[in-house]
Amino acid sequence: MCGIVGYIGEQNAYPILLEGLKKLEYRGYDSAGVALLCPDELKVIKTKGEISALERKIGEGFPEGTAGVGHIRWATHGAPSDINAHPHCGCSQEFAVVHNGIIENYLNLRRWLEEEGHCFVSETDSEVLAHLVEHFFDGDLLQAVIRAVKKVEGSFAMVAVSEKEKGKLVCARKDNPLIIGLGKGENYIASDVPAFLNHTRKIYILEDGEAAVVTANNVEIYSTQGEALQKEVSEVTWNAAEAEKGGYPHFMLKEIMEQPRALRETMRGRLLREGKEFSLPELNFTPEEINSFEQVYIVACGTAYHAGLVAKYAMEKILKLPVEVDLASEFCYRDPLLNKNTLFIVISQSGETADTLAALRLARKEGQRILAITNVVGSTVAREADKVLYTWAGPEIAVASTKAYLTQIFSLYLLTYYLAQEKGNLSRDTLEEAGEALFNLPDQVETILQRAEEIRELAAYLASWESCFYIGRNLDYAVAMEGALKLKETSYIHAEAYASGELKHGPLALIVEGIPVIALVTQRSVMEKSLSNIKEIKARCGHVICFAQEGTIEFQREVDRVFYLPATLDILMPVLTVVPLQLLAYYTAVARDCPVDKPRNLAKSVTVE
Ligand code: G6P
Repeated sequence: MCGIVGYIGEQNAYPILLEGLKKLEYRGYDSAGVALLCPDELKVIKTKGEISALERKIGEGFPEGTAGVGHIRWATHGAPSDINAHPHCGCSQEFAVVHNGIIENYLNLRRWLEEEGHCFVSETDSEVLAHLVEHFFDGDLLQAVIRAVKKVEGSFAMVAVSEKEKGKLVCARKDNPLIIGLGKGENYIASDVPAFLNHTRKIYILEDGEAAVVTANNVEIYSTQGEALQKEVSEVTWNAAEAEKGGYPHFMLKEIMEQPRALRETMRGRLLREGKEFSLPELNFTPEEINSFEQVYIVACGTAYHAGLVAKYAMEKILKLPVEVDLASEFCYRDPLLNKNTLFIVISQSGETADTLAALRLARKEGQRILAITNVVGSTVAREADKVLYTWAGPEIAVASTKAYLTQIFSLYLLTYYLAQEKGNLSRDTLEEAGEALFNLPDQVETILQRAEEIRELAAYLASWESCFYIGRNLDYAVAMEGALKLKETSYIHAEAYASGELKHGPLALIVEGIPVIALVTQRSVMEKSLSNIKEIKARCGHVICFAQEGTIEFQREVDRVFYLPATLDILMPVLTVVPLQLLAYYTAVARDCPVDKPRNLAKSVTVE
């Protein structure tokens, strides 16, 4: 995700940039850096590690300069390292750029710039921006930035500084946030308001396709076509703690709400022509490799394991390969049957979970080649795997995983359909239908999020119970497991997930009057059977809250409450179904006054076995 700050005024910029970066740490923390316009030169200092590493590197005698930019990185292209940290410079070191986003055509741009004589030092996509600005500069930094961003495909929020035009910062954005803070004789730029909330509450919100020239006393806003624009000043009313969470009371809610964006980032460059073609060049599979797979083996922990369960249903159906999903902590202590024609996948948000790492290493010892699905570039899992498919969810702070899960299952769908496309085991029409449906999912998630209030009402019922059930068949069962885990970990309610067909083999004994049962009924092939299971519960006076797909069965008469989800292909429904379940867990935890972001006894990343 990355965080950007900028300052220009009369004060020493470095402490102000540092303060801003610390407030943006939730956006990334694998490297940090600053570029300061000092009287004699443009000074760039950057390092791998957290902000404290930058502070140590700079020490007491920090450079004096009244303008500068800072960056905190969450790696996308290129592992965390000193060289890959921002700011990036052009060849001459006269220009420095900080960037948040992904430049999809960076390889082409880099090739072109190299032909033009530019020398690159990092592995990042962002460095092309610095060279582009340098390349196009002919005395006007704004024009250079405008010409640079016109060349770029992808997403960016960026700020450029140059010792050739010392009195200004120039910024631009597309698909990533950038806000300008208005002070007296000084101005600020940041990815998010907490960075400068101690200094000003008056802001301009830069929109897509806009650029700005920020000086100590003035802010001019332009379209990236170069026309001057008038903008309204907005006033921030949030307090500092709210601002850090984007105005939400908890990171968990913020991260749930960020999911449409996270999905769009994850699909970027992978679903081409609005879903008509699947492309995963980072995997670099040969056709022989793809055709050699006889089975798929997935290993993970916690929520990531539940993502693997969704993949099992989807992959077996589409790829017609047997899929084994194992808990990493179990995999390591039995004798799993692996053959060399296995597609071996580990899933880990953090890429640091000890059990998952142990499983990866064991599989490697058994001669497996490993594909990792992870959210953290440069994590141990990413480094030790042979191939990596990144989920571009951005940093996840809340212990209860939400956007990471959604991007994991989305990535697994992309992988499944990509393999099907390459193997040729689906017709063109079927592939296009799936691609288009996937392409529409972020918008559909957005419509569910707009109905959060309906879920809050459902949570009010759940909150007074100490026990409840989640049931579903087929893919709904996989999602039920994740829904139950979310509720358990955030609200401390004992929540059990069952395959609906299993109720009669035990759990029905626990159904008492009013007990909440969350019934997921999104899969047409088993809908009638699921309905029978619901009737079994209703006959025993359980309170059934049902999540169903629009346009299937009218559930109102059968259950106590029903929430209709937007319709998509049955096989993709988990992406939609889990969203209200996340909200349900969240609102229930809030109603029970639980510490939502940091549940008792749990850690975000478990690095012990
Ligand atoms: C911890 C977290 C879970 C997470 C699991 C696996 O238990 O609390 O939210 O699903 O670890 O983490 P990973 O980073 O490997 O996905």
